[in-house]
Amino acid sequence: MKILGSSDAELREAATALQNGAIVAIPTETVYGLAASIWDQKALARVFEVKNRPSFDPLIVHVLGPEDAGLIGEMDVPFAREMARRFWPGPLTMVLPKKPDVPHLATAGLETVGVRSPSHPIARRIIELAGVPLAAPSANPFAYLSPTRAEHVQSQLGDKVDYLVDGGPCPVGVESTVLDLSAQPAMVLRPGAVSFEELARVLPNLEMLGRHSDSPRAPGQLPVHYAPRKPLFIAESGMLPDAAAALGAIAIAFGAASAEAAQKSGKFKRVLDLSPDEDASEAATKLFQLLHELDRSDAPQIWAELLPERGIGRAVNDRLRKGAGTTSI
Ligand code: TXA
Ligand code: MG
Repeated sequence: MKILGSSDAELREAATALQNGAIVAIPTETVYGLAASIWDQKALARVFEVKNRPSFDPLIVHVLGPEDAGLIGEMDVPFAREMARRFWPGPLTMVLPKKPDVPHLATAGLETVGVRSPSHPIARRIIELAGVPLAAPSANPFAYLSPTRAEHVQSQLGDKVDYLVDGGPCPVGVESTVLDLSAQPAMVLRPGAVSFEELARVLPNLEMLGRHSDSPRAPGQLPVHYAPRKPLFIAESGMLPDAAAALGAIAIAFGAASAEAAQKSGKFKRVLDLSPDEDASEAATKLFQLLHELDRSDAPQIWAELLPERGIGRAVNDRLRKGAGTTSI
């Protein structure tokens, strides 16, 4: 794997490699993605292979804006253009009926396609220079924690990828919101940085995929996902002091008061705080970095406290629940 920085010459090298069939890990505002040209079936197949990703889990296609999105998906379905106007570029993936040319490999055989326009300047420059839409799942082995720093990609995928563009830490820290506009009612399939509340202001009858659902509208939304190798347990807000924690367990609290109570309970070897000021966006930014760090530590268990179920807090809770392999609250 060749590691590139973010100079324009290096981004050109990455873009040329993508045009020639390479797979390239790139930073986005959410998490690092493992990119391949949407028109290169061999490269797409390698993305699945390198991630050990099951073929039923579709990829997200990254474009510069609504115009290129229209080459991949049907932008004339209700609300697609309006959502693009309001939330692109940014962490919103829209599921749309796919255009015939889009390879079934990328969509896992579905007649719909996930499309998003990232806001990260490095991702945008690479898409622009490559001149093709880029299919890019998160750059982690299937079902493992998503990478929010170049080091995570390097240690997890290493030489299996051709290039890694190091753009520093990802500012948002959790994956995009996946919004299905291909059928009625519109449905959030995966909570992310664009909140349900923001979307619901524009979309009447917006629904949220039920946590226990195995609806065919949500391929890849498996109950265990984003998981560390160490056992992860979750506690309701404020309940860390009641945890049945093993000796040496580490806690992840949300807010100074919770962190202090967890510390005082004597149940944990260390207590970390996702955001002393109870800022859910800060918690999202730090979440995967902290889980990666703790997964490498010698703690026998990780205990994490849920955030209030609103805004980007829903996305953090979704990742924590899936990481813990529990969909209950
Ligand atoms: O923020 C993100 O979305 C990151 C960055 C790299 O852009 N990407 C990402 O990709 O999280 P990935 O592959 O880890 O998650 C994509 C998920 C799939 O697992 C699936 O749940 C959903 O998006 N998805 C993609 N296409 C879909 C489709 N046609 N229908 C339903 N869900 C789809
Ligand atoms: Mg992923």
